[in-house]
Amino acid sequence: MSEKIYDVPTAWAQRAFLDDHGYRAKYEASVHDPEAFWGEEGKRIDWFEPYTVVKNTSFAPGAVSIKWFEDGVTNVAWNCIDRHLETRGDQVAIIWEGDDPSQSRKITYQELHDEVCRFANVLRNRNVEKGDRVTIYLPMIPEAAFAMLACARLGAVHSIVFAGFSPDSLASRIRDCDSKVIITADEGLRGGRKVPLKANVDAAIAKVEGGVDHVIVVKRTGGAVEMEPGRDVWYHAAADLVTSECPATPMNAEDPLFILYTSGSTGTPKGVLHTTGGYLVYAAMTHQYVFDYHDGDIYWCTADVGWVTGHSYIVYGPLANGATTLMFEGVPNYPTNSRFWEVIDKHQVNIFYTAPTAIRALMQAGDEPVRKTSRASLRLLGSVGEPINPEAWEWYHRVVGDDRCPIVDTWWQTETGGILITPLPGATRLKPGSATQPFFGIVPQVVDAEGKVLEGASEGNLVIADSWPGQMRTVYGDHERFMQTYFSAYPNKYFTGDGCRRDDDGYYWITGRVDDVINVSGHRMGTAEVESALVAHPKVSEAAVVGYPHDIKGQGIYAYVTLMSGVEPSEELRKELVAWVRREIGPIASPDLVQFAPGLPKTRSGKIMRRILRKIAEDEFGNLGDTSTLADPGVVNDLISQRQNKK
Ligand code: WT7
Repeated sequence: MSEKIYDVPTAWAQRAFLDDHGYRAKYEASVHDPEAFWGEEGKRIDWFEPYTVVKNTSFAPGAVSIKWFEDGVTNVAWNCIDRHLETRGDQVAIIWEGDDPSQSRKITYQELHDEVCRFANVLRNRNVEKGDRVTIYLPMIPEAAFAMLACARLGAVHSIVFAGFSPDSLASRIRDCDSKVIITADEGLRGGRKVPLKANVDAAIAKVEGGVDHVIVVKRTGGAVEMEPGRDVWYHAAADLVTSECPATPMNAEDPLFILYTSGSTGTPKGVLHTTGGYLVYAAMTHQYVFDYHDGDIYWCTADVGWVTGHSYIVYGPLANGATTLMFEGVPNYPTNSRFWEVIDKHQVNIFYTAPTAIRALMQAGDEPVRKTSRASLRLLGSVGEPINPEAWEWYHRVVGDDRCPIVDTWWQTETGGILITPLPGATRLKPGSATQPFFGIVPQVVDAEGKVLEGASEGNLVIADSWPGQMRTVYGDHERFMQTYFSAYPNKYFTGDGCRRDDDGYYWITGRVDDVINVSGHRMGTAEVESALVAHPKVSEAAVVGYPHDIKGQGIYAYVTLMSGVEPSEELRKELVAWVRREIGPIASPDLVQFAPGLPKTRSGKIMRRILRKIAEDEFGNLGDTSTLADPGVVNDLISQRQNKK
């Protein structure tokens, strides 16, 4: 662990919304009287009908219920667009930077209004109504933001599926929320390569019983696609027929805004449901304070809108604040390893938010691609998605930020809606690798395996003791699963699934997942999902998947595979299995290592002992822990010698 501490730069102490005293006072107020605190903060968005009830939440076993501002009426798109028009109509809302450096586009708030209304009218003409689910499977083009906001304007619930997911993954998500309308593009474009999105949608719909009613196709590359008459329509053709006015539907604060599927330790991905009022208040407030966003700043979050980071910190938080938000279609190393920094210079970006995996990959390419750019506009750097190792943190700070820009290492989850543990740039002294301190209203606790709350410096599991407005409300269609997953391990507390350490200064250091979830390049993958994809292959009889340390990805996917009897392991089969998983789930789920295992270590009752498999994958052969419950200890020795022979 790094012992280094970075003080708040003098320039920051002067310009920031809050200094250290400010943070402490506001934090105390937020946890001392949440009703009063959030009652005030709720006013940062416009309400058609004001709320009279602020907080009505319970984490009680079997009766978890979370409501914020429950009798307020508002609309998210109104707050992200219309309310800014009078003062910011001509201000740029979205800067779009294409995969190809010669392509970019600027969209003002007035243009955003017109585009979103058109999109909403196209949806409305296809009978999309308040409460209907709309699946969005788009690349990083402005239409992705237009589509989200169009749904929000109508009160439809969007479910974005990351454009890297396979037709199978897309199909299961369409089915789970029963969406009848899909929005996609002909093809995506990333790093110069085309992704067949419309073809994937066609393949997915073929697996959905009853199909869907409408597919709206945005033209991105002009590549050839098949259009099914009556079902499929080109967006540009449909948009030509409608006006750029569409009223914003009044929504109750607790009406659903979106569903976003995320992997857990068991079963199929869960539909995390976020609602309207509390989510927007929390996304906007965190965006303002964590990034210290001031009027006129140019802000860039490199995430994809297919993940929660894109929802909260490319679209909803920034636009609710009237910000200028940059949306990037491409990848960090195309056409060269200088791309990020060139985009920063081109658009004079002040605030830059990315993931440790990107930082590590660029760090490997050396300092030169960074140094040859100016980056003088940069003021603040951010990190999200996984723990950032101190070495990468130091490089990011020294080389990218020229020792001048604080780094906000923001810890949060799809479920939390917004950032929960983070530095504030004008207030918090930084320790490389630590997410530091709780945001306003957040009550983190460190608990041991029995649920005992540990005080002071301690290490254990991270729970949150009380609700905050951005919290997910339920698992779509399965409240029981919601309670079971997040509230059963530690009664009356939200369990994050993360381990953490709190140091003597009260700083939090997230140590990673403590469940069977792997974090690959900042993306969550359930081991169970990869396993079920593997055993679906006709030559596989059994599979166990664990994470292992990976230089760039943070964690890699390590698969132990037992073949059907009579099937011989081969290099060819190994490749076939990797390709199989890519096709079943998507490239992010590709196993990095496949070890053919004649047997898997199991308890006498037949449970696979992943703890041991994890140790073998980490090459910690001498430290396997208790092996006395193994049904057949010989299996473990075989796996170890096999692994050693590979080295
Ligand atoms: C998991 C949530 C939140 C947006 C992106 C990921 C890990 C996230 C950090 C961080 C250490 C982090 C946790 C968490 N994580 N940010 N700053 N430091 N770990 O969202 O896919 O829902 O994954 O990502 O393990 O539980 P997600």
